[in-house]
Amino acid sequence: MEKKNLDWEHIGFSYHQTDYRYVAEYKDGAWGKGGLTRKADIVLNECANILQYSQQVFEGLKAYTTADGHIVTFRPDQNAKRMADSARYMEMPAPPEEMFLEAVDRVVRANAAWVPPYGTGATLYLRPYLFGTDPVIGVKPASAFQFRLFCTPVGPYFKGGAKPLTLCVSDFDRAAPRGTGHVKAGLNYAMSLHAYVEAHDRGYDENLFPDPVTRTLVEETGGANFVFVTKDGELVIPKSASILPSITRRSLVEVARDRLGLTVTERPVALAELPDFAEAGLCGTAAVISPVGKIVDHGREICFASGMETMGPVLQKLYDLLTGMQMGTIEAPAGWIRTIL
Ligand code: PLP
Ligand code: COI
Repeated sequence: MEKKNLDWEHIGFSYHQTDYRYVAEYKDGAWGKGGLTRKADIVLNECANILQYSQQVFEGLKAYTTADGHIVTFRPDQNAKRMADSARYMEMPAPPEEMFLEAVDRVVRANAAWVPPYGTGATLYLRPYLFGTDPVIGVKPASAFQFRLFCTPVGPYFKGGAKPLTLCVSDFDRAAPRGTGHVKAGLNYAMSLHAYVEAHDRGYDENLFPDPVTRTLVEETGGANFVFVTKDGELVIPKSASILPSITRRSLVEVARDRLGLTVTERPVALAELPDFAEAGLCGTAAVISPVGKIVDHGREICFASGMETMGPVLQKLYDLLTGMQMGTIEAPAGWIRTIL
């Protein structure tokens, strides 16, 4: 199969309209049969719940070309499960796991020409999403929904590629106490946009959102979880009920312990202890592992020992392990890799 003629090394993290996407509809209490369509536009009633009350959840995962030329995805069953959790919380019917996985497989196969070749640093980003479609004017859940999945080839999420990021501690909240921070609802991202623009205008790459109750603990950024490394080489993961349970982070915790023999502690992390860490990073599907060089907390600069040029040694080991598993050069734990082609 001939690949699309794109400058794979320089595509950035932006939307390219690909050939096929998956759509399935839920109405009268049941999912209909889903299928592929070439149509990227969606026609909705003006009063559709998604347009008025933002009843929407989504997922993000990637397809990778492996060193030996296969196309694989990484733990898509975990995305299906998280979408089901998000949907339950947002009073929506989740697509069954088989439907979710069928959508992943079919969209990747149908758009195989768009899957970036091995070694380009680009991957195919898959965006499953679920939203309320029927008209509601009183505030209540929809009764009709669409589940869709499209894909787009992407490069690194952050502009500098692997260059360490500079973050600022935000004055805004991304998640409300006992709100939706732990589910992947579009409304969390809407809520982070003002903070994102403010941070960018002030020259920062991203926000560190503190916990919404005490504002003394590290939560996450708008689109990734944190990982920290102590001066003794131990991994510390912020624990909180209002951060998104990142599949990348959960995978890293497992392989850091089992493959690298690292001590991993998941616990609340105070902003006050940030200067004690040797390395800091962001992890997620889009972020992969992106090093953080500096965090600015209202004029107080916290510079990590790993510096502003490269990733620290422990995070680099984790990065190599994670991307090696995704690209098929390192064996992943059983069941983590789904071969599509
Ligand atoms: N946190 C937020 C707010 C996110 O949007 C994402 C991306 O999905 C993550 C963390 C990382 O999660 P995952 O590793 O499952 O992609
Ligand atoms: C992902 O990593 O898949 C996300 O959804 C994060 C988003 C900011 C692109």
